[in-house]
Amino acid sequence: MTDKKASTDYPIHELLAERWSPYGFEDRPVAQADLRSLFEAARWAASSFNEQPWSFFVATKENPEEFARLLSCLVEGNQGWAKAAPVLVLGVVSLKFSRNNKDNRAAVHDLGLAAGNLVVEATARGLCVHQMIGIVPEQGA
Ligand SMILES: Cc1cc2nc3c(=O)[nH]c(=O)nc-3n(C[C@H](O)[C@H](O)[C@H](O)COP(=O)(O)O)c2cc1C
Repeated sequence: MTDKKASTDYPIHELLAERWSPYGFEDRPVAQADLRSLFEAARWAASSFNEQPWSFFVATKENPEEFARLLSCLVEGNQGWAKAAPVLVLGVVSLKFSRNNKDNRAAVHDLGLAAGNLVVEATARGLCVHQMIGIVPEQGA
C-alpha cells in the first residue's frame, strides 16, 4: 500500500483517511492469516436482528480456475484492472430473514457495514480494497 492520505476538513482516524481504491496491485498473494482476519472483521459487523445476511465468495490467484470464474463476473472495464488483484471477493446477501422468511429491508445496508469492517481491517494490515458494482454475476454461471 502506498502512502496516500485524504486531506480532511476535520480530524478523522488515520485508518479512514488512509483508505483508497487502487487500480494497481503488487504481484504477491495475501497471507491466509490476513485474509481470514478480513472476513472475521466483516463477521463482527452490526446487523439488523443480528441476521448477518451476508456471504462472501472468495477467489485467490492460487486457484486460477476459481479466480477466472469470479473475474468473468465483472464488467469488461473492471476486468481490465481487477485481473491484477491477488484476491477477488463477491459479496451477496439474503433478502429474507432466515427465522421467518420475511423481507429484511436492512440486508443490503448490513452487507455494506460488513464490507466497511473488512475495508478498515484491510487498511490496518497495509492492504487495499477496491469495491465494484460493475458486475454481471450471471456471466460466472
Ligand atoms: C459500492 C461501490 C461500488 C463501486 N464500483 C466501482 C466499479 O464498478 N468500478 C470502479 O472502478 N470503482 C468502483 N468503486 C470505487 C469508487 O469509484 C471509489 O471508491 C471512489 O471513486 C472514491 O475513491 P477512493 O475509494 O479511492 O476514495 C466503487 C465503490 C463502491 C463503494
